[in-house]
Amino acid sequence: MIVVTGATGGLGGTTVEHLLKRIPADQIGISVRDTARAQHFADRGVRVRQGTYEDPAALRDSFAGAEQVLLVSGNDPDADMVGLHRNAVEAAVAAGARRILYTSQHGAVPGNPYPPSDIHIATEALLDDSGVPWTALRNGAYGPLDQVLGPWQRTGVIAQPQDGPVPYTDRADIAEATAVVLTGDRSFDGPVDLTAPNAVTFDDVAEIASALTGRPVERVVLDDEQWVADRIAIGVPEQMARLMLTWYQAARSGCFAEAGPLLAELLGREPRTAAERLAAHVAA
Ligand SMILES: NC(=O)c1ccc[n+]([C@@H]2O[C@H](COP(=O)([O-])OP(=O)(O)OC[C@H]3O[C@@H](n4cnc5c(N)ncnc54)[C@H](OP(=O)(O)O)[C@@H]3O)[C@@H](O)[C@H]2O)c1
Repeated sequence: MIVVTGATGGLGGTTVEHLLKRIPADQIGISVRDTARAQHFADRGVRVRQGTYEDPAALRDSFAGAEQVLLVSGNDPDADMVGLHRNAVEAAVAAGARRILYTSQHGAVPGNPYPPSDIHIATEALLDDSGVPWTALRNGAYGPLDQVLGPWQRTGVIAQPQDGPVPYTDRADIAEATAVVLTGDRSFDGPVDLTAPNAVTFDDVAEIASALTGRPVERVVLDDEQWVADRIAIGVPEQMARLMLTWYQAARSGCFAEAGPLLAELLGREPRTAAERLAAHVAA
């Protein structure tokens, strides 16, 4: 049995959809905070159990019988995420899992100024100490492109802080590849990068967007502090603006510059590029 956490979320849910195409439903379990939101999986024969990283006993129960457990990283900025991930790793070990997989982040290496990296580095260290074989899927940046580009479609300008090369990746591709890893013969020990094959900058994106829309899209680099002040002025909490700023700082430091070939290998096709995602967005 393969048990997946976070299956009521985007990445975990799509991973389960891909597992259902590859293995019988009775070999799939999910551990979710709210079982009512997983009825669509229960209806298709998936074992649905309640589990939250705050509750070790519930986790052990929801992981029971799992040969592999996929831990989807949590995302609460106010929680002790490393402590919660420790609960999850310990429960997977106690349940007798023979491999633990974890959704880490591309560029999760010491010196990356984007704080979630530290959570992933610490969780990978917990996995390494667990005594159980583990795989950290260091997933490329897959958030909505507008989240990092800003309202360029309305303004015709990508006015953001200095960025750097990033292999913007499609979450659905990562989910499919995760299901391939979980069900395949190949084992991956330790961290592996799952990213689109090419890293692009906002200068590249501006060119792509100009070609797609048929009107010039300009790239303007904003001063960091001015950008933070502008975010606060439109109601973004300062803490949130400063957290996001560290992402641009990480990108410009080259923390996300290296794209890897593994995602394409696992998919057996080219992953979706930033240009394709932009084209779909423009068409919509
Ligand atoms: N690589 C990237 O670009 C990128 C971007 C965004 C996020 N991430 C990371 O990757 C994770 C998955 O991404 P996503 O897009 O699938 O996010 P998502 O849709 O927000 O899903 C997160 C899942 O984690 C579950 N979760 C959160 N806290 C938990 C806890 N304490 N105990 C048990 N489950 C918990 C949530 O449960 P509920 O369904 O009950 O809320 C949800 O199902 C995120 O949580 C974040 O750590 C990576």
